[in-house]
Amino acid sequence: MEAAKDRIVSQAPEREPDRQRFFMDRCRELLRIKEQELGRKLTFNDQTFGCQMNFKDSEKLNGILEEIGYVHTDTEQADFVYYNTCTVRENANIRVYGRLGTLKTYKKKNKDMIIAMCGCMMQEEEEAERVKKSFTFVDIVFGTHNIFKLAELLYECLSRKQRVFDIWDKTDLIIEDLPSDRKFSFKAGVNIMFGCNNFCSYCIVPYVRGRERSRKPEDIVAEVEKLAAEGVVEVMLLGQNVNSYGKTLERPVSFARLLTMVEQVEGIERIRFMTSHPKDLSDELIGVMARSEKICRHIHLPVQSGSSRLLKRMNRHYTKEQYLELVDKLRSAMPDLSITTDIIVGFPGETEEDFQETMDVVRKAGYDSAFTFIYSKRSGTPAARMEDQVPEDIVHDRFDRLLEVVGETARQKNAALEGTTGLVLAESIDEKDPSMITGRLSNNNVVHFTADRSVIGKIVPVILEEARGFYYIGRLSEDGI
Ligand code: SAH
Ligand code: SF4
Ligand code: F3S
Repeated sequence: MEAAKDRIVSQAPEREPDRQRFFMDRCRELLRIKEQELGRKLTFNDQTFGCQMNFKDSEKLNGILEEIGYVHTDTEQADFVYYNTCTVRENANIRVYGRLGTLKTYKKKNKDMIIAMCGCMMQEEEEAERVKKSFTFVDIVFGTHNIFKLAELLYECLSRKQRVFDIWDKTDLIIEDLPSDRKFSFKAGVNIMFGCNNFCSYCIVPYVRGRERSRKPEDIVAEVEKLAAEGVVEVMLLGQNVNSYGKTLERPVSFARLLTMVEQVEGIERIRFMTSHPKDLSDELIGVMARSEKICRHIHLPVQSGSSRLLKRMNRHYTKEQYLELVDKLRSAMPDLSITTDIIVGFPGETEEDFQETMDVVRKAGYDSAFTFIYSKRSGTPAARMEDQVPEDIVHDRFDRLLEVVGETARQKNAALEGTTGLVLAESIDEKDPSMITGRLSNNNVVHFTADRSVIGKIVPVILEEARGFYYIGRLSEDGI
């Protein structure tokens, strides 16, 4: 038996993605036998934490699992469950390990259940080691660099009935053309680059996602064309710092140039991107955005802090003044642009004066919304070794004050559009009120509006009747825009 399995592995093509296609076929065969034995289909469930990158990776993993023959289920009482982890904050692991305990009880009831762990947390040696030693019911562990290998790892696990650990500390591979199961049929995320080279002093991402690698523009355009052919109208171009896209390619291409190429794809009506690092945002990009009919009127431009002194310690490479100048430039080129941001409160050494500088930026930049984070001392990063960590009660007090100003600014911005009509991509049935539809304006603001569910997936004119903080209540306009 063992020898037969080894023979199968030795027949696998060397080249990717052919190799993975081969293992998907082999897994499918094994699954069929199991299905017959059980008299039912096998199910899978994914638990995804963290940012857009992880959600995009999960779509790829789900695509592979479906290709193999697993059927998605909403419950963790499934035949295959994976946790795609995030580690951007220090204590994220406590939550994940807590939840893993529940899986153990499910596995007792279903002996053949397979549990996998992947994502950013598994790129940390001590976390992978902990899973190996203390969570022996976890069958497969892999990292961020080899998600494309899921079928091969699963085959190894199924055929040898043993635990599989495969974590790479880096890669320069970009494997294309594997299945992907998209959450929405009409909008999709598209990776344009992987990794990050910025090493902001508080951030773990460069350590767990590796060095920056850009996909070739022709591959990106080909993927967008394929998506358009499948009915996608909105694409979100994804990268940790899209503004530095293309710099490391053999034939360098700017992000602005890439946007003009994506714009030409017929059928694509909206283009979004995230995230923009302020230090690399070019005039060329502002020009392309301002001229474009398709690029959405929204930019996510994380400021992190308003204090130039702290920005230096954060290794962000811009000052408060440079950031505000950039905001001015964007606003004069596109008066209807919505700007959102990320802010960290309580970075080591933050004084009340530094914090006031952040409050000042929030007021001056006029954000449509902001993600606010309490600084988390992420071990392994330079900031974790800084001595002057800010006491918790002071951080919480600042955080509350910041939330108030952010909320107030957002309310003012949103109220300004009350009564107008805007184009909304209808995305889903409203979670709270099933008679309503939820969608997004070009500026990324959420609108809940009365309409028939047949509008889902379409871009429709909606009268924004009432601004409620971060979102609108509206109704479908009969007379167009
Ligand atoms: N590449 C993106 C951000 C990725 S992480 C960018 O540079 O904008 C998303 C957000 O998490 C960051 O913008 C930052 O605000 C926050 N973050 C990262 N590390 C953090 C830490 N140690 N503590 C608190 N917030 C953190
Ligand atoms: Fe982290 Fe900075 Fe890279 Fe963003 S740009 S992922 S905050 S290191
Ligand atoms: Fe988290 Fe990894 Fe994203 S650490 S924020 S999931 S890149």
